[in-house]
Amino acid sequence: MQIRARVSMSADGYVTTPSGWPALTADPAFVSGQSHGIREFLEGCEAALMGRTTFEPALTNSRWPWPTLDVFVLGSHRPDGTPDHVTTDSDPVRLLEKLRAANRGGDVHLVGGARTIGTFHALGALDSLELIVLPMLFGGGTRLTPALSPDAGLVLQRQRALPGGAVEIVYSCRGSRAGLPAKPASQR
Ligand SMILES: NC(=O)c1ccc[n+]([C@@H]2O[C@H](COP(=O)([O-])OP(=O)(O)OC[C@H]3O[C@@H](n4cnc5c(N)ncnc54)[C@H](OP(=O)(O)O)[C@@H]3O)[C@@H](O)[C@H]2O)c1
Repeated sequence: MQIRARVSMSADGYVTTPSGWPALTADPAFVSGQSHGIREFLEGCEAALMGRTTFEPALTNSRWPWPTLDVFVLGSHRPDGTPDHVTTDSDPVRLLEKLRAANRGGDVHLVGGARTIGTFHALGALDSLELIVLPMLFGGGTRLTPALSPDAGLVLQRQRALPGGAVEIVYSCRGSRAGLPAKPASQR
């Protein structure tokens, strides 16, 4: 099981628009149907992991965003209307244990946001950071840092141009493993 954060960002480094929406939603290519590689990415994934702030808008979406994935949410409370099949926990180490216990061999899509990516990276649990850099400048919004430590230990694995002008960059993370129980050998 690999925990893979996949994040869209503007070319000037913002993961949200100035008004707080995920960067991807501002890209005309995405709005007109470009998937930005998400379908291939999800082929290897069996679960989605995210923070409460990123999760809550899904509760009022007309369409459930993760129809094929088990969903795990980090947050101090279980938001009203959360479907029974969603696992929530206020403690990231405990949530990670639940994620691993449920794992059937597939990867985990760490959806975001920056605070939750930073939390799992600080625990040494983030295996890769996959950026979709959009051909747009926002001039404002939220960045990955400092919620994600600048000491992220990124090692370039691959990159590719996507239809619509975005670029996918995949890094593995060497991050520190402080505070985290060792992964079981079967899940390394
Ligand atoms: N560009 C992209 O691809 C992308 C992807 C996803 C999200 N986003 C954007 O990112 C923004 C949200 O990001 P965010 O960083 O503000 O929020 P977030 O990571 O989605 O959620 C933050 C919440 O997660 C819980 N949490 C995080 N770390 C924790 C820890 N160490 N211990 C306990 N609970 C913890 C807390 O919930 P409680 O408050 O309940 O305690 C916290 O308020 C949104 O604007 C969204 O649009 C962008």
